[in-house]
Amino acid sequence: MTEKVILGSDHGGFKLKNKIINHLKESGYEVCDLGCFSEESCDYPVIAKLVAKKVLSENCRGILVCGTGIGMSIAANRFDGIRASHCTDTYTARMTRAHNNSNILCLGERVTGAGLAIDIADIWLKTDFEGGRHQKRIDMIDERV
Ligand code: RB5
Repeated sequence: MTEKVILGSDHGGFKLKNKIINHLKESGYEVCDLGCFSEESCDYPVIAKLVAKKVLSENCRGILVCGTGIGMSIAANRFDGIRASHCTDTYTARMTRAHNNSNILCLGERVTGAGLAIDIADIWLKTDFEGGRHQKRIDMIDERV
């Protein structure tokens, strides 16, 4: 079955988001782009919320891009059930899927070059959650304090 990936960016991540979208389409993923749709200045929390809600309602995964990747990750992680991971290397991209069952990848266009960002996205998408002892820890994250 074709996997659907939800994409979003602000103006600071617009160009990298489009490169990732093209790559994902060529790789056979179904892509849903929730904006932004130009380089005009906009607010990253608005896009992070749209993507987080769709990831939760459709039980799929998403990729958010802003200038640093940090604002997007802070905003997306406000949602129960979202495990958004800001990654700048392939090792953490692999491990955050294997151990944290990350469901949103956050990237920074002003931090990470497009070639590396696409490798990070590929590895993040292809790595499965290991479950087992890691599920128990994720359940602990979700416990109310
Ligand atoms: C926009 O200038 C910038 O603040 C945003 O893209 C992001 O880096 C926020 O974390």
